[in-house]
Amino acid sequence: MTKCLLAFASALALVLTLLPPAVSYDPLDPNGNITLKWDVVSWTADGYVAVVTMNNFQMYRHIGIPGWTLGWVWAKKEVIWSIVGAQTTEQGDCSKFKGNIPHCCKKDPIVVDLLPGVPYNQQFANCCKGGVVAAWGQDPSASVSAFQVSIGQAGTSNKTVVLPKNFTLLGPGPGYTCGPAKIVPSTTFLTPDKRRKTQALMTWNVTCTYSQFLARKNPNCCVSFSSFYNETITSCPNCACGCQNKKTCVKADSKILTKTGINTPKKDNTPLLQCTHHMCPIRVHWHVKQNYKDYWRAKIAITNFDYRLNYTLWTLVVQHPNLNNVTQVFSFDYKPLVPYESINDTGMFYGMKFYNDLLMEAGPSGNVQSELLLQKDKNTFSFKQGWAFPRKVYFNGDECLLPPPDTYPYLPSSADRISLSFLALATSLVFLVTVFL
Ligand SMILES: *[C@@H]1O[C@H](CO)[C@@H](O)[C@H](O)[C@H]1NC(C)=O
Ligand SMILES: *[C@@H]1O[C@H](CO)[C@@H](O)[C@H](O)[C@H]1NC(C)=O
Ligand SMILES: *[C@@H]1O[C@H](CO)[C@@H](O)[C@H](O)[C@H]1NC(C)=O
Ligand SMILES: *[C@@H]1O[C@H](CO)[C@@H](O)[C@H](O)[C@H]1NC(C)=O
Ligand SMILES: *[C@@H]1O[C@H](CO)[C@@H](O)[C@H](O)[C@H]1NC(C)=O
Ligand SMILES: *[C@@H]1O[C@H](CO)[C@@H](O)[C@H](O)[C@H]1NC(C)=O
Ligand SMILES: *[C@@H]1O[C@H](CO)[C@@H](O)[C@H](O)[C@H]1NC(C)=O
Ligand SMILES: *[C@@H]1O[C@H](CO)[C@@H](O)[C@H](O)[C@H]1NC(C)=O
Repeated sequence: MTKCLLAFASALALVLTLLPPAVSYDPLDPNGNITLKWDVVSWTADGYVAVVTMNNFQMYRHIGIPGWTLGWVWAKKEVIWSIVGAQTTEQGDCSKFKGNIPHCCKKDPIVVDLLPGVPYNQQFANCCKGGVVAAWGQDPSASVSAFQVSIGQAGTSNKTVVLPKNFTLLGPGPGYTCGPAKIVPSTTFLTPDKRRKTQALMTWNVTCTYSQFLARKNPNCCVSFSSFYNETITSCPNCACGCQNKKTCVKADSKILTKTGINTPKKDNTPLLQCTHHMCPIRVHWHVKQNYKDYWRAKIAITNFDYRLNYTLWTLVVQHPNLNNVTQVFSFDYKPLVPYESINDTGMFYGMKFYNDLLMEAGPSGNVQSELLLQKDKNTFSFKQGWAFPRKVYFNGDECLLPPPDTYPYLPSSADRISLSFLALATSLVFLVTVFL
């Protein structure tokens, strides 16, 4: 695992040095980033003690299982005497040391979070969540992770400390690019009784931004459409997520699936996908379900096709005409996203805590569903030309592949109200069939 991560990290570093800096800009979350803050809280005989805080400022991209992996390169001969609330994956060569042995002597330490339930004396505030960090837009209180590190053979004043370099972040896979550490105004802390302020002796920040282009070659999810007014189901594009895994996929009715251990995640997180024509781990199905005088109703279903992964804290971001006129969302939480004043038709959906915030592994329970009611804006509303379908869909912060616009379910030209409501019935059945088979 460690070797693998290291190889991964160095491969990533190589890719990053070979490529020009990736333009990582997400128009729906222009200020999203992960910020690492190092607060020096005390000087020691041969170095300093720092609290490292990771804040996820991204609205809808979280760090899921198996959590973050953070690396950097020391500028001098620094060693890590001890860490509370995290650990390095390798100690490295500490043979020079007699008596006290450092926790890590590597020039390029790799740090991971501890798992929940570690002994109390190894814990630190906001630590020990297995490296899982929530998205800012979903749960700001859980969008932070922290540990404390004691560093030796380092500078012992703010004039002699040299900032660590070359930060790398896996969250949990590649995709993040971290900038250089920058000295920023010292953080101030309020004592618990809020009667006294203290301040860090020195603070530096590192900002990491995400680019889907760096994260993966192919999309990770695709979108299919249906509507009450046309029985055509516009399915996900063929090989939407690349068909490299086609050889190892498992048919939904395969006997292998009854074996125990089939769902056990692999150390390198290779998926075990159900065989589909799109070969995506995730499909989002959008169904325009019903037409009322002043409202219309749509149904969303997210289906997991990976037998080895439960998605915790999943998010779905949708850009859709008139989404600013959502009146009610059933069984998902919803939050509008307004990155700019001119983009007001975007929102994020996520599971309700303890109800459907876990999207289970592929199989009969591997889906979550919701319906939403939108009020018609009479000036713009139309069922024509695929208007009532989303323009953009993101699952867990990665953009999903949509079908080509000319294949969207088309409103029959002779559609009148009676045939519309008849079709509504017929296509509800079709919807059930698509989602459950
Ligand atoms: C990181 O995100 C925060 C919150 O959105 C923002 O205030 C800050 O400017 C961002 N930092 C950078 C370097 O973009
Ligand atoms: C440094 O990061 C912290 C969050 O970790 C943020 O609150 C602060 O604004 C950042 N400082 C600067 C100057 O960007
Ligand atoms: C270092 O400390 C001195 C006072 O001890 C202070 O004036 C200076 O601003 C500090 N520099 C940094 C980079 O924090
Ligand atoms: C750190 O990154 C710089 C530029 O990205 C590179 O030249 C240097 O070799 C890296 N150092 C280490 C020790 O990886
Ligand atoms: C998914 O979660 C369920 C219930 O917590 C558990 O039984 C199952 O083993 C998990 N599957 C995977 C692939 O982790
Ligand atoms: C939403 O954005 C559109 C342009 O993209 C603008 O014309 C409209 O006034 C905005 N609506 C609101 C309520 O801000
Ligand atoms: C749609 O939403 C916008 C602002 O969000 C509001 O100004 C407008 O009145 C709404 N339209 C309807 C039909 O509710
Ligand atoms: C339904 O939509 C499809 C795809 O856009 C279109 O080819 C077909 O003509 C439509 N059916 C009717 C009855 O209009």
